[in-house]
Amino acid sequence: MILTNPKGTQDFLPSQSAQKHFVETQFRNVVALYGFSEIVTPTFENTELFLRSTGLTTDIVTKQMYTFTDKGNREMALRPEGTPGVVRAVLQYKLKLPVRLFYSGPMFRYEKPQKGRYREFYQLGVESIGEPNPDIDVEIIEMGLRFFNNAGLPEVIARVNSVGCMACRPKHRIELSMFLSDHQSEICDDCKTRSEQNPLRVFDCKEATCQNLYINAPKIMDFLCYDCQQHFQVVLSELAEQKVPFELNKMMVRGLDYYTRTAFEFVLPGGKLSNEALLGAQDSLGGGGRYDNLVEDFGGAKTPAIGFALGVERILMCLEMPKQTRKTIYIIPLDAETWKQGRKLLTALRSTNIPALINPADKNLRTGLGYADNLACEYVIIIGANEMQKNVYTLKNLVKRTQEEIPQDKIIEVLTQKQENTQN
Ligand code: HAM
Repeated sequence: MILTNPKGTQDFLPSQSAQKHFVETQFRNVVALYGFSEIVTPTFENTELFLRSTGLTTDIVTKQMYTFTDKGNREMALRPEGTPGVVRAVLQYKLKLPVRLFYSGPMFRYEKPQKGRYREFYQLGVESIGEPNPDIDVEIIEMGLRFFNNAGLPEVIARVNSVGCMACRPKHRIELSMFLSDHQSEICDDCKTRSEQNPLRVFDCKEATCQNLYINAPKIMDFLCYDCQQHFQVVLSELAEQKVPFELNKMMVRGLDYYTRTAFEFVLPGGKLSNEALLGAQDSLGGGGRYDNLVEDFGGAKTPAIGFALGVERILMCLEMPKQTRKTIYIIPLDAETWKQGRKLLTALRSTNIPALINPADKNLRTGLGYADNLACEYVIIIGANEMQKNVYTLKNLVKRTQEEIPQDKIIEVLTQKQENTQN
């Protein structure tokens, strides 16, 4: 029996890997423009790290963490998200603040797999730690949208809300709890638990009946304290002033506990994404927000912070990718004598940074052409006795189905020129 990949995971075959690489490159280019440097943290951490940050009442911690006890009896978890590890590292290595960091890598959540929702998935994330002002929130949101624009998704907008702070939440919590107890019979079992443990979390429920009911529930936005109100007002007015495409959504609360003040998600508007590629709950291509208490909760000094993470698989699902460029040159010598010449040419091409492969010595022209096509090569160089006699190579374009003879001493020049033309 042929073994298959575990449920909820994905293999990226070469063409998909090329697309994933394209998305990552666009991301790296954009975040570099905003002064972010890369950080790489482990894919597993002490479980406690996530209990203390992602949140004890979140679905991620209660239902979705891959945890295990290692051989030294330590409680470990595969990271479900990148933020806690980054904040831990910033504190552990006493990085000078403010600091702007980005990361890229796999995350793990034991979720019910479906289109756009996996158990292992890749995130591209940023964290700006130590920057309190609302214009940073705008800058970060604008940066995310610039990435989407550059990657080929200019329609993406930011859905924004403010989830307040420790000062505004208690009053809202009381009002929301009263609303929920009045409607206990109408809400799902998960929301019954949420209404006891962390009522704000009900807004995150994916059940349509709950969502409809919560349209009339008290929203945190209407309970913001003076400082949070001021902060959010600046965010909204600057977003508008800078013509950043966004919509205010008072029901958006995000699925993690550490958020304070500005919270946002990147979505394709008008449910376009839900219909075409993803299903309702998976419509966010990325999300983030402020987390002004997390550094302190981890034992550091009071430090404001903000960040976001993007879901690579979801982005790939929405992108029309440019076709993979065919770059590698395939050399087909037709006999033992010309094979030696082919080997020399192979080395010369690679030394000039031209990717090249050679047909196995025991395979003929037909097999070679088949291999070249499988390997997505655009050009084949054929070397036979005839070519050796005339001091040329036959250069065959597999895409255009043309061929020409090129003097042997001109081949590198000609191929370099052709490469430059495809890049321009
Ligand atoms: P998150 O909303 O949990 O936030 O995840 C961010 C993005 O990761 C989502 O919008 C989605 O695109 C993608 N994603 C999440 N779960 C899955 C899944 N099971 N399968 C496929 N894609 C998924 C965070 O992770 C925060 N750490 C973001 C952040 C950074 N906040 C502040 N800094």
